[in-house]
Amino acid sequence: MSPRKPSGPTREDHVGDGRPGGRDVRTRPRSPTGRDDIHPVDDHLILTAVRGLEAITAEEAAEHGLPGATPLQGAVRVPVDPDQRVRAAMRACLWMRTAEQVILPLARARIRRPGDLAPALAAMSLAPHFGPDHTLAVEASIRRDNGPPPHLLALRVKDAIVDQLRDAHGRRPFVDTEQPDIAVHADLDDQVLTIGLRLHHEPLHRRGYRQHGGPAPVRETIAAALIRFSGWDRRSPLCDPLCGSGTLPIEAAGIAARIAPGEDRPWGFLRWPTFPEHQADWDALLKEARDLRKPSGPPIFARDADPRAVAATRRHVVAAGLQDRVFVSQADVSALAPLDPAGTFVANPPWGERLGEGELEQAREVHRTLGHAARDCPEHRLAVLSMKKVIAGTIPMRPDAVLPFRNGPLACQFSRYLVQGPPAADPSPD
Ligand SMILES: C[S@@+](CC[C@H](N)C(=O)[O-])C[C@H]1O[C@@H](n2cnc3c(N)ncnc32)[C@H](O)[C@@H]1O
Repeated sequence: MSPRKPSGPTREDHVGDGRPGGRDVRTRPRSPTGRDDIHPVDDHLILTAVRGLEAITAEEAAEHGLPGATPLQGAVRVPVDPDQRVRAAMRACLWMRTAEQVILPLARARIRRPGDLAPALAAMSLAPHFGPDHTLAVEASIRRDNGPPPHLLALRVKDAIVDQLRDAHGRRPFVDTEQPDIAVHADLDDQVLTIGLRLHHEPLHRRGYRQHGGPAPVRETIAAALIRFSGWDRRSPLCDPLCGSGTLPIEAAGIAARIAPGEDRPWGFLRWPTFPEHQADWDALLKEARDLRKPSGPPIFARDADPRAVAATRRHVVAAGLQDRVFVSQADVSALAPLDPAGTFVANPPWGERLGEGELEQAREVHRTLGHAARDCPEHRLAVLSMKKVIAGTIPMRPDAVLPFRNGPLACQFSRYLVQGPPAADPSPD
């Protein structure tokens, strides 16, 4: 992605009045090098996503009124009306379940050599986005570049903002990496530096209901992506027979009930100096979310053989306010039976990861038991989160779809099966 060269007045000739969502003021972009290579950005949002699951995040964004997203590597780019971009970003915070972060880009610059960084940052006119009395934190990511390490880039961006604020107001803002008022995101990708505001400090996946952990809990964003990948119709029953701490059933129940996961979070943008301008939009979005919530939904079943997992799930279901929708019980996966009416099984079986050969074989055995039990449930769906080397050859059905993705250092995959009818005589394992 390289910056466009303006020829005649373009959107990039309009620098906002310096505040996210503020009025436009017509000025030329400034360039420290004399070239038009510093550009304000106001026509898209970035939602960071799990690498490999970007298309699911783009599809989810469209469902929540943010259509046309382009999947990138580890993110999606959502086109927005410049006048509505803060509202669109707040909408994403409120509704998105599969996104990790919501970032409002402010400006970008071409960084051809290390020496370009300081003048580019100085020319970006960042100070108006911050008050000197607001605390700030800067985080950086570097892709496809041999630039400085991310922490050094973050430090330089922080220094540039602090210098600008000191020049503008005569005093420096404080840095607070724990609970900053303003979270700045710097991204260097293929010589293009983009500076943006992250609308939150805590990542989106921390919904707040999971306080008691579990043996190997899946991230809430990945759980929500598996629910979407499963093709569940959100009306028929859904069951997770290996629920652990309950993440999959809780995400599923939230999706079916149209609960906005961001309703009650202490969003960073609520502390922006410009937030009063957006208060009415935020209030309207919250009201819309409350109006859309469904009073009832399909039954969701959460089961696990381990009583500690069952207890943790019960607590998390209550914390999420879903006790009328999610039914928790202790059971072995071998007891899996058809749902009535037919529905969807979702599961994140043990992987045996970081464990020895014996544990890996045990994990494969749980997959085998799950697959055989699900195969005896005609007209059901099964969606599994696992790793290729663990699941391979264990499920006695041909997958309808497989989606590989990265979960940190782990190469994982979603696999989906449609149980058509009675067990096949000669099943073809995946
Ligand atoms: C990877 S964890 C699931 C994590 C869960 N998705 C979460 O977010 O917390 C796998 C779960 O399978 C359960 N499990 C293992 N063998 C089982 C069996 N035979 N029957 C039922 N549950 C089993 C374990 O107790 C564990 O909670």
